[in-house]
Amino acid sequence: MQTTAASYLTDVQNQSIPFVHRDLQEWVREMTELCTPDQVYWCDGSKEEYDNMCEKLVEKGTFIRLNPQKWPNSFACFSDPSDVARVEDRTYICSRRKEDAGPTNNWVDPREMKQTLNGLFKGCMKGRTMYVIPFSMGPVGSPLAKIGVEISDSEYVVVNMHIMTRVGTKVLDVLGTDGEFVKCLHTVGAPLETGQADVKWPCNPTTKYIVHYPEERSIVSYGSGYGGNALLGKKCLALRIASAMGREEGWLAEHMLIMGVQNPEGEKTYVAAAFPSACGKTNFAMLIPPDTMDDWKITTVGDDIAWIKPGPDGRIYAINPENGYFGVAPGTNEKTNPSAMATIRKNTIFTNVALTPDGDVWWEGLTKEPPQNLTDWQGKPWSPESGKPAAHPNSRFTVPASQCPSLDPDWENPQGVPISAFVFGGRRSTTIPLVYQAVNWNFGVYAASTMGSEMTAAAFGDIGKVRRDPFAMLPFCGYHMADYFNHWLQFGRNLPNPPRIFSVNWFRKDAQGRFLWPGFGDNMRVLKWIVQRVRGKASAIESPIGWMPRYDDMDWTGLDFSEADFERIMEIDCEAWKTEVLAHEELFGRMYDKLPREFFYMRELLLSSLWRSPAHWGLEPERA
Ligand code: OXD
Ligand code: MN
Repeated sequence: MQTTAASYLTDVQNQSIPFVHRDLQEWVREMTELCTPDQVYWCDGSKEEYDNMCEKLVEKGTFIRLNPQKWPNSFACFSDPSDVARVEDRTYICSRRKEDAGPTNNWVDPREMKQTLNGLFKGCMKGRTMYVIPFSMGPVGSPLAKIGVEISDSEYVVVNMHIMTRVGTKVLDVLGTDGEFVKCLHTVGAPLETGQADVKWPCNPTTKYIVHYPEERSIVSYGSGYGGNALLGKKCLALRIASAMGREEGWLAEHMLIMGVQNPEGEKTYVAAAFPSACGKTNFAMLIPPDTMDDWKITTVGDDIAWIKPGPDGRIYAINPENGYFGVAPGTNEKTNPSAMATIRKNTIFTNVALTPDGDVWWEGLTKEPPQNLTDWQGKPWSPESGKPAAHPNSRFTVPASQCPSLDPDWENPQGVPISAFVFGGRRSTTIPLVYQAVNWNFGVYAASTMGSEMTAAAFGDIGKVRRDPFAMLPFCGYHMADYFNHWLQFGRNLPNPPRIFSVNWFRKDAQGRFLWPGFGDNMRVLKWIVQRVRGKASAIESPIGWMPRYDDMDWTGLDFSEADFERIMEIDCEAWKTEVLAHEELFGRMYDKLPREFFYMRELLLSSLWRSPAHWGLEPERA
């Protein structure tokens, strides 16, 4: 439904709009007055709406329709070079008290922030249409789902929200006249003066704010049109705001994929796994087992976010709140992720990839050799000699999850799927073994709290230095990180039989800097041991840091991986581990006041265990 802003305001005043939801109506009215758009448009979520909006983006020059033979109903677009990724340094958690945001989040007093933003939002949608996008995170009507409404002046946001969330009238029906919703206000921050022509990627190149008010459960985003900065259902609602909701309401909002692992007997075990951004979560979620293990099957519930709640039977159940994938394109190919390649075959939006003259797409790693005559992600002719990548390293595809060939039949089950194991992994070239199982829930929480990745981009600090990224949630936790650790410990205390917790590291290297592990499909070997552990079917040895498989406990059929290779990748170097455990202090020191006291004892226990050589590690008595 589209009206001019002026007639929309008159209609509201005359109460001639069919009554929807008093708070929602009032908020849209206030924002119309503040942002002064030309038009107001309520999204209905229909296919016609999506198609019309894509057509409009083609006319504006924002979208390029791809070759329909190769990529049916798919589009590419190039963002402004200043607007290519999430902006962590412009992201704020504006809780009333600074100590509730904690030392790992940017904080400004909410009153001060509101003043700043009010100034910026005055007239910010001039010359544009204000879209009202009602959306559900999670299957519409699911007891685990939450509703948001995003107001945005970006057509790119509307079409991406159509894919990434469930949008439209059906959501308003569930919201009814008094349901709860999260207010998500977004502008690209580029008003148009009368007669001023628009640019292909409007944004504000100098001013960006991504702001969360956890107590009010609202989000305000200014100046960016890209990904997590602008599609507010994803990182902003489903992680930052939802983590704060989960803390209050006794559940978890996590940066985790969810996968089903089906054994040859047909039994399925659901696993949730957290890895920092750009560590291959989408690849892992869609893993295809090696040929020699093809009696095992992986199904995909989600690739990025999990909402997890205790069920009435004492187990915990997870949904994927998203409806699509916003995946990193570079590195994706037929070998690394054939399922993702099949998923993106149609109805896909590519952002910042390179293009061929015949309407095909390309990115680094798609093929060994780049095709001739590429246009790079800035729309300029490209050749390999330029020394620059043709696709932006953070270029993306947005695609409906329903197109994924490995989709789990229960991926939209409103009750969620039961989780039996958590897996945590960072990117570490030394010290952390391929896999180990925490001895209990608390030690698992400790391991997840101290996980980290070696820095690969100078933007984040010294290359090679470990950046701690607890639970892969450092940029996404909507409250004090130490309160978050306490919430996890408390969550486990309330469970009669908590899931088992595992740590993995696909990235360990030898002294020459070569990866020790083939990764990708072969990660199935590790998963097999994990789910068999959960089902009581696999043995382990007790090491100083937890339970570990021995060589014979894992399936090596079809892979040339010797016992000596295994020893190398599983090695626990007690001296390196002492250094590692002592280094946890760097993270803990920043949040000493609220750190769970259990952590101090667990650290001591770990340190005091780090002396025994493998010859003295214990076997599980019942299996010895
Ligand atoms: C993502 C991220 O886009 O974690 O999923 O940055
Ligand atoms: Mn992510």
